Amino acid sequence: MTAADVQSRPPAGLAFPTGFRWGTATAAYQIEGAAAEDGRAPSIWDTFSRVPGKVRNGDTGDIAADHYHRMTEDVALMRDLGVTDYRFSVAWPRVQPTGRGPALQKGLDFYRRLVDELRAAGIRPVATLYHWDLPQELEDGGGWPHRETAERFAEYASLVAGALGDRVATWTTLNEPWCAAFLGYASGVHAPGRTDPAASLRAAHHFNLAHGLAVGALRAALPASTEVSLTLNLHAVRPLTGSEADGDAARRVDALGNRVFLDPVFHGRLPEDLVADTAALTDWSFVRDGDLAAASAPVDSLGINYYSPTVVAAGTHEGPSPWPGAERHVRFEPAPGPRTAMDWPVDADGLHELLTRLRDELPHVPLMVTENGAAYDDYADPSGEVHDPERVAYLRQHLAAVHRALADGVDVRGYFLWSLLDNFEWAYGYGKRFGVVHVDFASQRRTPKDSARWYGEVIARGGLPQ
Ligand code: NOJ
Repeated sequence: MTAADVQSRPPAGLAFPTGFRWGTATAAYQIEGAAAEDGRAPSIWDTFSRVPGKVRNGDTGDIAADHYHRMTEDVALMRDLGVTDYRFSVAWPRVQPTGRGPALQKGLDFYRRLVDELRAAGIRPVATLYHWDLPQELEDGGGWPHRETAERFAEYASLVAGALGDRVATWTTLNEPWCAAFLGYASGVHAPGRTDPAASLRAAHHFNLAHGLAVGALRAALPASTEVSLTLNLHAVRPLTGSEADGDAARRVDALGNRVFLDPVFHGRLPEDLVADTAALTDWSFVRDGDLAAASAPVDSLGINYYSPTVVAAGTHEGPSPWPGAERHVRFEPAPGPRTAMDWPVDADGLHELLTRLRDELPHVPLMVTENGAAYDDYADPSGEVHDPERVAYLRQHLAAVHRALADGVDVRGYFLWSLLDNFEWAYGYGKRFGVVHVDFASQRRTPKDSARWYGEVIARGGLPQ
């Protein structure tokens, strides 16, 4: 598909390329529940969500959307939507409860059943190996700041690949290592809730290493045609003004938010400015010879999760920050415009900016939007329907931005809407609803929202109506 193909389609709307992958996305801890079933051991999120004050309303993932018991119904919902792909994550503590040793067959069986059900429904499974639920035992041994965790991750990747490799053709190693490293170990608003800036930089490096080692493990276990990727929540960083100081703040955030992963994974190097900016915290001697070569094992595509842009200016940040070393240099400014229930600005241009930047910087790497969506305060009306026009508008704008990127020559292969179901939104608990399917958590009743019908129509026509 070339830019010319996109533009030469009939003007009935915004047509997407034939073969474009239309998906929805979820993550294990956010939907599965069954936290103590079939031998699953606690993850860092089971522990963290029990610490008073860490998650709104004291919510936990114990039951979540009960997907573990309702998987068949949930796959049927996706079949009705007409998605071509489904991005889910495997819960490490369900398949290797302590993060070491042999696999737990019952855990693997659940994912085999899920994948079989998907394939029977004509939906391609896209498996993510790590969506933030580290086995608690590995955290007790040091967690991601500790090198061994990366090695354990590669071993876990082999176990899962051995069990699902004959039926899953697309794999993602990590989801949003930025959040896992910096919200988990620097600002502490995510599990495991540590506030140690130096440790968060070690964690970031070990995520890069873990990713690269897992790519090797997956390649060794899977057929050559398997697609292996990584999902990053890249930041569309904008300086507040054209001043040099604001430009420097944007550079720092780009280093800590984007290049900290992009450079090791795609270029086998650490960003020099990042090393200089963080010199007071670490000398980076935990990066051993060979680590960056391992981290840059070639991938077949890059997943991008995008929700809103980041506006920065020169300034200071009070309190625990997820930006180690930038606390006295950067302040975050609210972006203008309408907001979602997360108070995140709605700005689809940021997605187009990111996609075209990656086209320029990584011209040979195919891209997938592995998450995009919005939370709104949805509720079922007296007739039981859920009307969510703001979500439809959000999705329409962002899909139009993807289409614009395609027309600008960006190789975007797919779009995964976050999320299929309302679910456990981490530190926000069940209060924030991202699903196109409403979940009444008391009864576990699922109700497709208007946005689900709208997305189904988009998929059926292969693009957006005018
Ligand atoms: C990104 C994360 O991957 C996902 O788990 C989360 O629910 C969404 N963003 C929305 O915050």
